[in-house]
Amino acid sequence: MSEVIWGLATSHVPSIGAAMDRDMTGDPVWSPLFEGYGPAREWLARNKPDVAILVYNDHANGVDMDIVPTFALGTAERYRVADEGFGRRPVPDVEGDPDFSFHLLRHLMDDGFDLTVFQELDVDHGFTVPLSVWTPEPGDAWPCPVVPIMVNVIQYPQPTAARCYALGQALGRAIAAYEGAGTVGILGTGGMSHQLAGARAGFINPEFDHMFLDAIEEDPEKLAALTREDFIREAGAEGIELIMWLVMRGAMNERVRRVHRAYHVPASNTAAGLALFDNRPEPSA
Ligand code: DHB
Ligand code: FE
Repeated sequence: MSEVIWGLATSHVPSIGAAMDRDMTGDPVWSPLFEGYGPAREWLARNKPDVAILVYNDHANGVDMDIVPTFALGTAERYRVADEGFGRRPVPDVEGDPDFSFHLLRHLMDDGFDLTVFQELDVDHGFTVPLSVWTPEPGDAWPCPVVPIMVNVIQYPQPTAARCYALGQALGRAIAAYEGAGTVGILGTGGMSHQLAGARAGFINPEFDHMFLDAIEEDPEKLAALTREDFIREAGAEGIELIMWLVMRGAMNERVRRVHRAYHVPASNTAAGLALFDNRPEPSA
């Protein structure tokens, strides 16, 4: 039996990683964002899981647009950091956990989720920036092996929020049935409100984001009932990335304890949000 000990939701804006890589986190424009991460990072450093699952989207960097899987899972031993056009970020490649991946794959298939399998995968900012938010100074390696779950949020029709939440619930059952690990951390990534192109480029909606931060904790079913059009209208064309937070939340208990939450506008063109939840009945300090 394995246990999800925490869930971390965070935006994945590429320039957050770039600011860290260039030692700019203390600059006036960046310091409020990074100060907001502090309490979550301190708590996460004290609560290291045996393995993590990172729910993310690729942005046509690791996989081109010829093939767009709705839901996919990585089964590799290692995932290379993708070159997105400016060279690879100076952060470690990601160690995987093939045994855990195959367990999740079998269990999710039997539970009705027909996942695409990546035996090889380069991971882009959608993956590495959340890792950097979690662990700013990884040294030679990230804190534990990480299994990627990829969700299509970039090409219509994206999966519904309800389907993402259901995938998370199935993931929770699959994790609970795994004998091989003890503790698991799960990351739901992307968002919050942003739109990068078109007539509404630069669109941010703090009211919607704050509603989402409240409901992801207390009433995820309400968010699972939103349509993709609701997400795009209220959170912008790329704000639909928020459906990935529902995969994370679905894998957690009905009641969770909030450890920390932060919200900062703007990081680049995006409202950057973070929410960290302890999933244990007896919360940890
Ligand atoms: C930005 C945000 C994203 O989610 C992304 O994938 C790329 C860029 C931005 O705000 O610059
Ligand atoms: Fe994105």
